[in-house]
Amino acid sequence: MTITLAIETSCDETSCAVLRGGREVLSNIISSQIEIHREYGGVVPEVASRKHIENINMIIQQALDEANIGFNDIDLVGVTQGPGLVGALLVGISSAKGIAYALDKPIVGVNHIEGHVCANYIVHKDLEPPFTCLVVSGGHTYLVQVKSYTEYELVGRTRDDAAGEAFDKVARALGLSYPGGPLIDKLAKEGDKDAIEFPRVYLEQDSYDFSFSGLKTAVLNYLNQKKQKDEKIIIEDVAASFQHSVIEVLVEKSIRLAKERKSDKIVMAGGVAANEGLRNLMMDRGKEEGIKVLYPSKILCTDNGAMIGSAAYFHYIKGHVSDLHLNVEPNLELKG
Ligand code: KG4
Ligand code: ZN
Repeated sequence: MTITLAIETSCDETSCAVLRGGREVLSNIISSQIEIHREYGGVVPEVASRKHIENINMIIQQALDEANIGFNDIDLVGVTQGPGLVGALLVGISSAKGIAYALDKPIVGVNHIEGHVCANYIVHKDLEPPFTCLVVSGGHTYLVQVKSYTEYELVGRTRDDAAGEAFDKVARALGLSYPGGPLIDKLAKEGDKDAIEFPRVYLEQDSYDFSFSGLKTAVLNYLNQKKQKDEKIIIEDVAASFQHSVIEVLVEKSIRLAKERKSDKIVMAGGVAANEGLRNLMMDRGKEEGIKVLYPSKILCTDNGAMIGSAAYFHYIKGHVSDLHLNVEPNLELKG
C-alpha cells in the first residue's frame, strides 16, 4: 500500500499527515495558529507564512514519528497547491518539493477544496462517488456533484461572502473572537431561531448559487438599530436566527441538487460542516427525502494534512502526478 506524506499550509494551520492508501491515517499533526491571529481578529497572511516556516520541519518530523516511519518509507508526497494564501502555500510546496527531490519520489499538488471532500473517504470507509457534496469553508461555498474520486462538477458557488466568512463577520459584530463560527454554533443552541426574521437569499428560482453578504448586512443593521434605540440585544437569539438563515438555504439547495441528480447521498465538507445546526437540519431533511447525509469528524472538517493525503493518493493511482515545477495557485479552481 502506498505510504503518502501530505502537507497542508494554505491558511492558518500547519499540518502534516501520513496515510496508507487513501483512507487510512497513520498520523495527522495539526498545529493551529489561531491564538496568534485572534489578536488581530482574522488571519494576517505575513504572520501565517512566518509561522509556517518556523513550524513546518517540526510538524513533518512529528508526523513521521507518530506514524512510526522514516523518510525512506515514503512512496508519495502530497501538498496543497491552492487555493489559499500565496506565502502560506509556498512554505508547504517548498518543503514538499524538497522531500520529493531528496527521496526521488513522486509529488502531487492537491486542490484544497478536493481535500475537504476527500476527508469523507477517511471517515466513511465505504463511501464511493458519485454523490452530491456541499463544501462550506472559510473561503468557499460550493455545491458540487462529485463524479469520481478525481472529477468534480461545480454546480453552485457563492457570489459574495463564503458561509464561514459570514459566520466570522457576524461573530465579530457580536463582539466574539476569531474564528466566530464555532462560537455562533454554541450560542445558537441557547437562542430562538425564530426570534428575528433575517432574509433567506435563494437568488433566481433555479440557481444553485449562494449569496450571504445581504444577510450579513441585515444582521449588522439589526444590531445598529438596537444600539441606537438603546434596546437590549439577546445575542443568543441573533446567533440562532442568523445561523438558521444560512443553514436553511444551504440545506434546501443541497437537497434540491441531490434530487435533481438522483443522488442518494449528500456529503458535507469544510470547516462549516462542523456546525451542529447544519448537521442536524441536513440529517432531518435527508431523512424526509430518503437521502443519506454524511460528514467528516470535526477535526477532519477544518484544515488538516490527512485530507490532502487522501486526495493526493486518488490522483496518484490515476496517474495524475506533478513534477518539481509545481507552483502555488492561490486561486486554483475545482476541475471537472
Ligand atoms: O475549512 P476551514 O478550516 O478553512 C478554510 O479552508 O477556509 O474553515 C474555517 C471556517 C471558519 O470560517 C470557521 O468560522 C468555520 O469554518 N467554522 C464553523 C464551525 N467550525 C468552524 N462555522 C460554523 N460552525 C462551526 N461549528
Ligand atoms: Zn479549508
